[in-house]
Amino acid sequence: MFDLSRFSLKGKTAIVTGGSRGIGKGVALGLAKAGAKVAVTSRKMNDLEATAAEIKGFGGEAFPLQSHLGKMEEINRMVGTVMDKFGRIDILVNNAGASPAMGGVLDSDERLWETIMNLNLRGVYFTSQAVAKVMQKQRGGKIINIASVDGFKPEPGVSVYSISKAGVRMITKAFALELAPFNIQVNAIAPGPISTKMLDSHWFNLPPEEAKKQKQAMANFTPMGRIGEPDEIAGAAVYLASDASSYTTGTEIVIDGGSLLGLGLVLHQE
Ligand SMILES: NC(=O)c1ccc[n+]([C@@H]2O[C@H](COP(=O)([O-])OP(=O)(O)OC[C@H]3O[C@@H](n4cnc5c(N)ncnc54)[C@H](OP(=O)(O)O)[C@@H]3O)[C@@H](O)[C@H]2O)c1
Repeated sequence: MFDLSRFSLKGKTAIVTGGSRGIGKGVALGLAKAGAKVAVTSRKMNDLEATAAEIKGFGGEAFPLQSHLGKMEEINRMVGTVMDKFGRIDILVNNAGASPAMGGVLDSDERLWETIMNLNLRGVYFTSQAVAKVMQKQRGGKIINIASVDGFKPEPGVSVYSISKAGVRMITKAFALELAPFNIQVNAIAPGPISTKMLDSHWFNLPPEEAKKQKQAMANFTPMGRIGEPDEIAGAAVYLASDASSYTTGTEIVIDGGSLLGLGLVLHQE
């Protein structure tokens, strides 16, 4: 019979990449609240320490760990360090991702391609591979990839990012298929617009009033008429990380205020 205790993450250990701010921080706090010990990783130690302090503030356990996931050697070092610290990895959240510059299909250059693909695709693939080898020995684990609604439909000006996120959806399915016999479940969460530094970078070169107007216009495009908050992603992450999702693999949960449904702007016009 179903019991709410199946959502508990007590005794589990997790890595949340890009856990220092934005969606990753929201997810890290959620997993820690559910009882997991959480290693939060990103490139800047100050931000990581602040997130870890927040987790410790409510009695959770956190381990801040600096690593650049666009670099292969740092992926392996990160996994090794977490194993030294926790002794096992039950949950991996591949959240670190970037969309460093806008570029249409005709003007995105090789450098932009490599920066985005190194982190969003190669980083997710090889972090999953390294952690899956640990999970294979443990005979179990949960991998959660943060994809995007942009991986379902292209958006003008963010072509390379959209292509990378479509790839994250396929990484999810490919790993889910091959790892199912080892009791490793692999799923994705596809957020729509969520209020973070990455989202705000869309308008960073505009005057504040214009940036505010454009952000509201983006909100109006979602049927729910607003941009989401990072902690609105945490519930799905806790579900996918917990025993409650024991028969769920190779799928994705879209959390986007209905934006993939379309018609938002029509609903919110005066
Ligand atoms: N916000 C949205 O609307 C939205 C929508 C759909 C999907 N997403 C996805 O959600 C994920 C998180 O995005 P966000 O909006 O929360 O972005 P964010 O606020 O910019 O946070 C990104 C996180 O990733 C870390 N990071 C960036 N580059 C890294 C690298 N090379 N190595 C390790 N860590 C790195 C950042 O810390 P450092 O800079 O210190 O390394 C930070 O912790 C991304 O995969 C993004 O594509 C976001």
